[in-house]
Amino acid sequence: MIQSIVASNAQLPIQTVPSMCQNSLLGGVISESQTAAAALSPYYYLNGKKILLGVSGSIAAYKAALVVRLLVKNGAEVRVIMTPSATNFVSPLTFSTLSKNEVITQFFSTHEGLWNNHVELGLWADAMLVAPATATTLAKMANGNADNVLVATYLSARCPVFIAPAMDLDMWKHPATQRNLHFLVTECKNHLIPVGHGELASGLIGDGRLAEPEQIVDYINQYFATNSSALVVNNAPPLPPQTLLGKTVLITAGPTYEPLDPVRFVGNRSTGKMGIAIAEAAAQMGAKVFLVLGETNLLPQNKDIQVISAHTAQAMYEATTALFPEANIAILSAAVADYTPVEPQKSKIKKTGDLLVINLQKTLDILATLGKNKKEGQLLVGFALETDNEEENARKKLQNKNLDLIVLNSLRDEGAGFRHDTNKICIIDKENNKYEYPLKSKDEVAWDIMNLIVKKIPSSV
Ligand code: CTP
Repeated sequence: MIQSIVASNAQLPIQTVPSMCQNSLLGGVISESQTAAAALSPYYYLNGKKILLGVSGSIAAYKAALVVRLLVKNGAEVRVIMTPSATNFVSPLTFSTLSKNEVITQFFSTHEGLWNNHVELGLWADAMLVAPATATTLAKMANGNADNVLVATYLSARCPVFIAPAMDLDMWKHPATQRNLHFLVTECKNHLIPVGHGELASGLIGDGRLAEPEQIVDYINQYFATNSSALVVNNAPPLPPQTLLGKTVLITAGPTYEPLDPVRFVGNRSTGKMGIAIAEAAAQMGAKVFLVLGETNLLPQNKDIQVISAHTAQAMYEATTALFPEANIAILSAAVADYTPVEPQKSKIKKTGDLLVINLQKTLDILATLGKNKKEGQLLVGFALETDNEEENARKKLQNKNLDLIVLNSLRDEGAGFRHDTNKICIIDKENNKYEYPLKSKDEVAWDIMNLIVKKIPSSV
């Protein structure tokens, strides 16, 4: 669903929310994360990073100068490429002065007659940021139209690419723009830095403003903070603080397979990727992690994570309830079968009549059981994968199962749910606050979940 691309980021102060979690309390979330970021000496993951900034022709190009200043101030090396139209808004001299590097605006250097090697530039960067990205530049990027050096470099880049669009509200809402963005995010795996809402250069009020420089820089910083493999540079900054040292985190993940006979089962399409990513993030935060894992071929990389295989709802129930008393935090992301065959057959069921009726009985609800047994200071997190009435259903589960947080993903959002490497979530807490996140890789989503959990841990845990 293209609409999901328009959604704003809970970590960014952006008010536009045409997504599954409308009218959220973003204000509270933003100020919280901004305060936390300021307290933690923000942006230190940018130190030593090589950032390639592509500026396209928008009135918002002046904000890109502030982005360069912030990046450089935080230890990043910045090189700037401008489209010819961008030079009408801001002089290349501004960017070369701030970045202390020559600015590239065309394929050939006019005074020296030298070719500007866009392939080399694309390979040089640890991250490429296109800000502001106009509707035209997005269209060219999505269609591989390399008629300027910015898009040619984009096509050559092997690093993560961040796109911060800026345009008037009708251009932003136009299906052509949304289709291009959708393609860039879901197919090209680029990272979208959501647009802001407010007064636009046209005087109209709506969505389409370039995100603020601090938000853009914060976004890239968070990317590096949550992707430790990206930290292989000289002077590598410290790993994320060991915020969960001494804590035990219990996670369920993957599907359960309920046997019908020795050959067949009742199951679902879960892969366990999301829960495994959460286990990895929790372990990196210093926690002791128990991962109760359903039927899947995937395993966590971190050898410190203790994996308990539990392939049926009953086995998962037994393992999880046994471990819960020693857990400070329990995150139940498994897709547990709600029903299991009453009498699994010992031998293969033979083909007989035209109709086969199988009696199923309800499984035990693990999450609800933990909710009943939860002691003060234990934090319980559930998941809800919904297809309709998403928010209402998630709220019911939060309340009925006595949860502290529920992570909601909707199968109506493209790229969310089972079998994707990406997910789009919204988290609701028991105080009724909502935290929305754009489409991201499951690893990034895991960090978003863990970062929020850390903020919610009661002081008694
Ligand atoms: N869950 C569980 N044990 C079950 C069923 C679900 O622990 N037997 C947990 C899941 O791990 C998830 C949450 O409950 O964290 C919600 O699961 P979901 O299948 O979305 O909801 P149900 O309560 O089963 O309701 P329904 O299937 O009717 O939506």
